[in-house]
Amino acid sequence: MSVKRIAVLTSGGDAPGMNAAIRAVARAATAREWEVFGVRNGYAGLLADAMDPLAARDVGGIIQRGGTVLGSARSPEFRERAARDRVRAQLAARGVEALVVIGGNGSQSGSAALAKEGFAVVGVASTIDNDLHGTDVSIGADTAINVTLEAIDRLRTTASSHRRVFILETMGRDCGYIALMSGIGGGAEVIAIPESEVPPAEVAARLRAAHERGKTHAMVVVAEGAKQGVHAMVEYFEGRQQETGFGLRITRLGHVVRGGVPSSADRVLASRLGAAAVACLEDGVSGVLVGEVRGAIVRTPLAEIAGRTRPADTALIELARVLAT
Ligand code: F6P
Repeated sequence: MSVKRIAVLTSGGDAPGMNAAIRAVARAATAREWEVFGVRNGYAGLLADAMDPLAARDVGGIIQRGGTVLGSARSPEFRERAARDRVRAQLAARGVEALVVIGGNGSQSGSAALAKEGFAVVGVASTIDNDLHGTDVSIGADTAINVTLEAIDRLRTTASSHRRVFILETMGRDCGYIALMSGIGGGAEVIAIPESEVPPAEVAARLRAAHERGKTHAMVVVAEGAKQGVHAMVEYFEGRQQETGFGLRITRLGHVVRGGVPSSADRVLASRLGAAAVACLEDGVSGVLVGEVRGAIVRTPLAEIAGRTRPADTALIELARVLAT
């Protein structure tokens, strides 16, 4: 297909690097003399037909900015067929022939539905949770790990001064990738994630053992999606924290994990994936997600991705455990 006009949107939870991906889509497309529209606020904006022309100069000075200049939203309405029918009619009326969707699991389920119904869509893998099939790494995950790691390093200094344990909660709704990677990088004594739950009694036993081995402080890194998470630990340790031998404090990072400037790895990944999405459309390929597998750009059918999550590699939990002895 020879494309002349495309639209790009960012959807779901924002991720550092999304702006670099928007820039790459806009510049790769304008280099081919296509017209580009930037959709405001994700699928909600698509439903409201809210979009503006995005020329090469409009995306200047955004590669280093976190968040998304287009805005993002979660849009339950887009799950309805009638809403998508309306969107297709609106896009046709504007002469927009293809859409690039920068987002994570929920967003790519929307892309898959639109693609199945005959519209040309290419997804770009972007979620700090890094739980998408079709890519080893998603835009935003590297920055989120580094933000968490910095928190671990900072907490460790005060933990050491006061002979304390810190329980640190980081983001990760269904997948513990951020907690796992930052936990390994930060030398955590315990890592608790949805893919590998650690009951609070076991956390206490491991902390006690660490104390007995002569440790002066310890870190427990927990993904917010773990069922045996911060709440369960607070409940368990109520009146019992001395059993561990350490004092105990809790820090929840929340949306801090998603904020701030993207790392160099995220900027490069986003630049590659944004340009790869445009290359797909030039090749007449759509209904796919572009991701990076073993360093190479790959295209995976959206139908294979929708509704699935990719768990973190739990073998690494064992590594973390051995290295924390
Ligand atoms: O999907 C990314 C993510 O940051 C999850 O880790 C987190 O659970 C969720 O988004 C938070 O969503 P919201 O910003 O809508 O509260």
